This record gives sequence, structure tokens and C-alpha cells, in this order.
Amino acid sequence: MSVTEQSERFRLSDQYQTLKASVHAVLITQIEERNLDIYSWSADKVERFVLEQVRRYVLEQRLPVNQRETEVLARDARNELMGFGPIQHLIEDDSVNDIVVNGPTNVFVERAGKLSAVPVRFNNDAHVIRVIQRILAPLGRRLDESTPMVDARLPDGSRVNAIIPPIALDGPCLSIRKFRKSPLSADDLLKYGSITQPELDYLHMRVQKRTNLIVVGGTGSGKTTFLNLLSQWVPHGERIVTIEDAAELRLQHPHVVRLETRPPNLEGERAVSARDLVRNALRMRPDRIIVGEVRGDEVLDMLQAMNTGHDGSMTTLHANNVRDAIHRIELLAGFAGYNGNETTLHGQIGAAIQLLVQVSRLPSGQRRVMSITEVAGLQGRELVMRDVFRYEVDGDRHLDFRAAA
Ligand SMILES: Nc1ncnc2c1ncn2[C@@H]1O[C@H](COP(=O)(O)OP(=O)(O)OP(=O)(O)O)[C@@H](O)[C@H]1O
Ligand SMILES: [Mg+2]
Repeated sequence: MSVTEQSERFRLSDQYQTLKASVHAVLITQIEERNLDIYSWSADKVERFVLEQVRRYVLEQRLPVNQRETEVLARDARNELMGFGPIQHLIEDDSVNDIVVNGPTNVFVERAGKLSAVPVRFNNDAHVIRVIQRILAPLGRRLDESTPMVDARLPDGSRVNAIIPPIALDGPCLSIRKFRKSPLSADDLLKYGSITQPELDYLHMRVQKRTNLIVVGGTGSGKTTFLNLLSQWVPHGERIVTIEDAAELRLQHPHVVRLETRPPNLEGERAVSARDLVRNALRMRPDRIIVGEVRGDEVLDMLQAMNTGHDGSMTTLHANNVRDAIHRIELLAGFAGYNGNETTLHGQIGAAIQLLVQVSRLPSGQRRVMSITEVAGLQGRELVMRDVFRYEVDGDRHLDFRAAA
């Protein structure tokens, strides 16, 4: 067994968890008794202090812990004290995109598109909740039995969702989608095989020609990443208003106004919805409106905006394919109180949306543009859709239908 394996095994043992809890208690006592203001210290100083305390404790208690294990223990104790406990190192690890905690002993990370279990554990549910609360505290958000669900954004732009018992049946859950320091570029997407050069060129041209478009895909399929890329191509002379629940888009654009929705406060008041913001955006004389994701009654205002001079507007929609996307829009419009008949709605959708880009996360973890589909108009009561590009997973075939059209 390698040294790393040994120390991993050590860290996962029950003994170790108990030990860590007592070390934590000792540190807290020291800090309180000596009235130390460790939060004002440098990281180095905290590290030295913790290591010294842990060494002394190990000696005093005559614990069967070697030098290396003492250092592991000191690092974990410091993370517990200052940071986000057992997941601190995952948060610091730039190769990790997503961190998912399902209860104290099931922790997963996504690296390069692949989700895998990691040997990380919390002591118990309360420990997970403590870490979640430490993440949320600086944001002024709370999480307890009366507010058992939180969706928030960290100062660095990472997204955090937490949900705890009694709503979560198997213990507190935490998901962190880390914010990439630099968004994926067209070159990155080409390199990862997420898109081909002809598809890229075509989309570039359509964005510049002010096509209204929707990026469609499942959870984590790369919708926001693509929307961000497409938005980069909006000519610099145009004024953009972006509307998001949690500002994720990072447009390198001189003329962009960013708006963010607001959840209701504790009294259930003062919410600002995406619909409010789309309506307001229309009064801000934008050339284009970009909505991070359409998922509620803002759909009607978005369709209207696309139909009334804000050509080149873009959004994303959660759906598994292009047909489902249209159904979902109909459904959302229905919920939003649309009171025309189906044919008029189809007409509106057909006039508003010109292009759908479907993205998907393949079983390998790779994200890919599966199809680029044009809305060709209305035939009778049905929308006619025509693929411009399609990727067939079977046979890994890239089809380009432009010549056929
Ligand atoms: N083409 C790609 N290649 C590799 N990784 C990607 C690609 N597109 C997105 N990712 C990564 O996948 C994760 C999810 O991406 P993104 O947020 O764009 O998805 P989404 O569909 O908007 O997710 P959600 O449904 O949560 O809104 C991010 O960590 C992102 O960096
Ligand atoms: Mg998204």
C-alpha cells in the first residue's frame, strides 16, 4: 500500500473521525481561552498554530499517530476551523468542476466531465449542515427546518444548492458548481470535440445576423456555457440586457447591463422575478435581451420581445430535444396564462424562435452540440423544423444538411 493510500485509509477510519473531533474541540478551547483572533491571522500563521497544537495533543495523549498522519490531521483540523471542512481541498482543486455531497458519506466530484465518488466523509448530518451554513453565512442566507432549501451564488460566482432534512430524506445534500476562472472558449469547445468548425462558423454568422435562438439541453449539458459563447459574438455596437437567476454569463462586451432576479425575503416578500425583469428590460432600449434560462411565466414576455424588434435575443431551456423544447414552451405559456388557441401560440413561437441549438452530455461525460435546427415556419397548425446540422452518436457522424436545403 502506498503512503497516500495509507493516509487515505487512515482518514476514512472511524477512529480518525473521533480523533479529528477531539482535536477540533481542543483547538476551539485554546482559541477561546486565549482569546485568539485567528480570523485576522495570515494563512501561514494559522497553519503553524494548528500544527503546533495538534503535535502537542498527539504527544500529550500518546496517540499512535506518525509524523505524516499528524500533518494530515493538522490540515484537516485547519480546514475544519477556517474553511469548508472535508471538502475544502476539493473547493481549492481547479480540476474539479462540480462537488456533490449526498449525506455525510457520499461525496462525488466531476472532473473533465466525469462524475466519480471521492473518499471524503463528514462525521454526521450535523457536520454537513455546519459546513453548508459556513458556506452560506457570508451570503446572509440561512438554512434550517423552516427554510430547508437554498440556492445561492458565492462571491466567486460558484453556484451552491443545499437541501436538508426533513425535505431531503437521506441526509443533507450540497451541490457546488464551480465557476470557471476563464469561460470555455470556442477553441476549447473545438478541442473537446463539443462542436465542429462548420457548426461554429454557422452559429457565429447567425448570431451576427440577429437570429433569435434557444439553447436546449438537460441539466449540466452545457447550455449556459454555449449561451455565453454565442453572446460573445454580438457585435460591439449593440446594447445587451442580460437577465439571470444567478449571474453566470460573462460577456466580454462593452455595452451590457446585467440584471439578476431576487428570491423573496423571509416574509415571502420583495421578490423580483425574471418576468418583472424582462418587462423592465424592454423599457431599457436594449438591442438584444439574453435570459439565462426560461423556466416560468417570463416565457411569454420573452416570446413577445423576440417578436417585437429585439431580434437576436437568446436564452436556454431545459429540455431533452428540440420537440420537447417546443412542448415545454407551450406548457410554460399555458401556465403563464396564455389565452389564445394552440395555432396562434404555434404561430407566435414560430415567429419568435428561429434557431434551436441542442446540447447534450454524452455518457462519456463529453458535452456536444447534437443538432442545430431551424424553425422553418408553420404548416397547418404544426411547426416545421429543419436540421441544419446533426450529430449521430451511433457511428460518430457529423451531418451537414446545408447543401441539401
Ligand atoms: N463543452 C464542454 N466541455 C467540457 N465541459 C463543459 C462543456 N460545457 C460545459 N462544461 C462544464 O459542464 C458544467 C455544466 O455546464 P453549464 O453550466 O454550461 O451547463 P447547464 O446546462 O447550463 O447546466 P444547468 O442545467 O445546471 O443550468 C460546467 O462545469 C461547465 O464548465
Ligand atoms: Mg445553466
